[in-house]
Amino acid sequence: MPLLKIIALNDFTKVFVWKITETFEELFHSVPLNEVSIARLNTMKSEAHQKGFLSVRRLLMEAGYTDFDLYYDEFGKPHLKDGKHISISHSHDFSAITISDVIIGIDLEIRKEKTLKIAPRFMEISHLENLSHDEQIQKATVVWGIKEAVFKIKNEKGISFPDHIFEHDFSLTDKNCTAELRFNKTVEYFDILFDFIEEYVFVCAFNSVSLEK
Ligand SMILES: CC(C)(COP(=O)(O)OP(=O)(O)OC[C@H]1O[C@@H](n2cnc3c(N)ncnc32)[C@H](O)[C@@H]1OP(=O)(O)O)[C@@H](O)C(=O)NCCC(=O)NCCS
Repeated sequence: MPLLKIIALNDFTKVFVWKITETFEELFHSVPLNEVSIARLNTMKSEAHQKGFLSVRRLLMEAGYTDFDLYYDEFGKPHLKDGKHISISHSHDFSAITISDVIIGIDLEIRKEKTLKIAPRFMEISHLENLSHDEQIQKATVVWGIKEAVFKIKNEKGISFPDHIFEHDFSLTDKNCTAELRFNKTVEYFDILFDFIEEYVFVCAFNSVSLEK
């Protein structure tokens, strides 16, 4: 199945989600690629990674762009040449891009036992109290996604998930919450939206001030 969903998160932010069922060849022949992308594609070790990368280019086309409209800064953060903001994530069978008038960070994560196992290393463990085992996996995965998404907004060296990014407690049914980054003697607040797509968790982070516009 190609494009799975286009979701309008608000008046100025759209999410495009792809479920990857195509072969490498099908994807490769369906997208124009710039020279940098061809070189990058050739260095990728797994076909799964290559397909994730190519499916993102398909999503760009759904959004009215091509690979030629995209470039990366020295940290690996993607940017669009027209000044709109983009964030990218891919995980196994799915990829997603979000395009917005404001800075955003997104993350797609597969729900897995291992994320719950390492939860004490990256989140406030009391936030998993009074939940079933499955709900604990879901919530730990959302929190991991929150930290990845906030990291993608800030894009700064030295940010650690357990030491600098903090989720405020939330309920899984709310599908939104808040988080904060305490780094370099400043505190910044983020609004988080999350959802579940098959066995995946999708998380989108906004700077809280962005939503006041
Ligand atoms: C860069 C990072 C956020 C990527 O996240 P990921 O879950 O591994 O992979 P995703 O598929 O979700 O995201 C990959 C995309 O993020 C984007 N990206 C990469 N570096 C980025 C950065 N510095 N800022 C914003 N976006 C970035 C890219 O678009 C990339 O895909 P592409 O290169 O194919 O276009 C992650 O690897 C990372 O470095 N995290 C912070 C380090 C950390 O603290 N880790 C945990 C320690 S407890």
